[in-house]
Amino acid sequence: MIDRVKKHFQDEADTFDARVVKSVPFYADMLEALVLALPFKRMEARKILDLGCGTGSIAKKIKEHFPKALVTCVDFSENMLEIAKNKLRGYRDIRYVASDVRAFDFSGHDAVVSSLTLHHLRRGREKLGLYKKIYSGLGRGGVLYLADLVLGETGYLQRLNLEMWKGFLSQHLSAKGMNERRRRYKREDRPFKLSEELAWLKQAGFRHIDVVWKYYHFAVFGGQK
Ligand SMILES: C[S@@+](CC[C@H](N)C(=O)[O-])C[C@H]1O[C@@H](n2cnc3c(N)ncnc32)[C@H](O)[C@@H]1O
Repeated sequence: MIDRVKKHFQDEADTFDARVVKSVPFYADMLEALVLALPFKRMEARKILDLGCGTGSIAKKIKEHFPKALVTCVDFSENMLEIAKNKLRGYRDIRYVASDVRAFDFSGHDAVVSSLTLHHLRRGREKLGLYKKIYSGLGRGGVLYLADLVLGETGYLQRLNLEMWKGFLSQHLSAKGMNERRRRYKREDRPFKLSEELAWLKQAGFRHIDVVWKYYHFAVFGGQK
């Protein structure tokens, strides 16, 4: 399954930026909320890690808000990383690492962020393990913020989430495009309930856990060490 995810991003890297805004409602607002959650002063040279950086949109936003930040962009798709490098060529202090996020060494960072990536992990156990690893790698006061797909807490709310998403997709995609996106959701995406995510963060040791932004089944949430 994870190989299928990697292949999909490798194959479609060059069209990702054009497609993501058509499949994620308020994508730009969501990324803005993720970066605004970082509790740093503008000119601090903080070390920030972006897991599943894709084409570098979050790293770009981080550098706009925190010009001196040292950003590490991690992704297992070399093609996505190539696009990120090109997008970010005007910025300094950005490191690119081709790696599976699960195999990455998280030590020495002030913040870890990740957008639309960790819902590809299939098991709750795996996610909790990752949150624990991130927690132990962060310095005291360090933060983890995630922007991702979540499930509705009840069957009714999940159906509502999907209806709202379908409404958005129908404004931007053909019937064929919508079917493809729906198939991919079933095959490749493994969201969990927001309450489960928040509980795992707590279990991993995080404090001040909060939901910063939410639009149906897209949410920005995280906590502090
Ligand atoms: C939907 S894209 C999101 C990209 C970017 N974060 C954004 O919000 O625009 C997901 C990215 O995560 C990467 N990815 C998914 N699972 C990964 C894993 N286990 N390790 C490393 N990268 C992964 C994919 O290659 C892809 O670039």
